[in-house]
Amino acid sequence: MKRVALLISGGGSNMLRLVESMVGDHPARPVLVASNDPEASGLAKAAALGVPVASVDHRNFGKDRAAFEAALLQPILAAEPDIICLAGFMRVLTPSFVRQFEGRMLNIHPSLLPKYPGLHTHQRALDAGDIEAGCSVHEVTAELDAGPLLGQARVPVLQGDTAEALAARVLVMEHKLYPQVLRRYASGDRSPVYLS
Ligand code: GAR
Repeated sequence: MKRVALLISGGGSNMLRLVESMVGDHPARPVLVASNDPEASGLAKAAALGVPVASVDHRNFGKDRAAFEAALLQPILAAEPDIICLAGFMRVLTPSFVRQFEGRMLNIHPSLLPKYPGLHTHQRALDAGDIEAGCSVHEVTAELDAGPLLGQARVPVLQGDTAEALAARVLVMEHKLYPQVLRRYASGDRSPVYLS
C-alpha cells in the first residue's frame, strides 16, 4: 500500500477527490494533508475525513524559501510518504526540495501543458483564442510545470466564456483526471491517461 501526502493552499477540492478515491482496493492511502496556509479551508475538510493535517505558514519565513521548505519538510518526512500530490499548492518549490521527491511527486495544472505554465492559465487560453482548454497531471521536476505528462483532460472553450466559467468547466475534469492518474501511478503504471 502506497502512502500519499497531499499539499494544498486553499479549498482543496482536488485533494478531497483524491482522498475520497483512496478506499477499498485502491493501491494507496492518504497519510497527510499539509498546507502553506493555516487558514486553507481544505485542512478542516481533510481532518473531517480523518486524515492527519499540518500547516506551515510561508508568511512567517519572508523571502527565505529554503527555511519555509525545511519547516514544511518536517511533517512530510514524519508521514513517510511514497508519493506526494500537489493539489492546488500555490508555492513554487525549489529544485533542492523537488529533488528529494523526484519521481514520486505529482502536480495538477489547469492548462493543456506545455501551454501556459504558471498563473492565469484560463485567461491566457481565452486571450489566445484557443478553441479548447483543459488540465494536466505531471511529475514535478525542477522546471516549473514541465515534468513528464501523466494525464490530460480537454474541454471546449465556449462562446462568451469568462476565465471563471472556463475554470469551473476545467475543474470538473480535474476531479475526474487526478484520481484516475493517481490510481494508475500508485500501481506502478506511468502511462498517461487522456480524457475528453
Ligand atoms: C485547481 O484548478 C488547480 O489545477 C490549480 O489550483 C486549483 C486548486 O483548486 N493549481 C494551480 O494553478 C497550480 N499551479 P482546489 O484547491 O479546489 O483543488
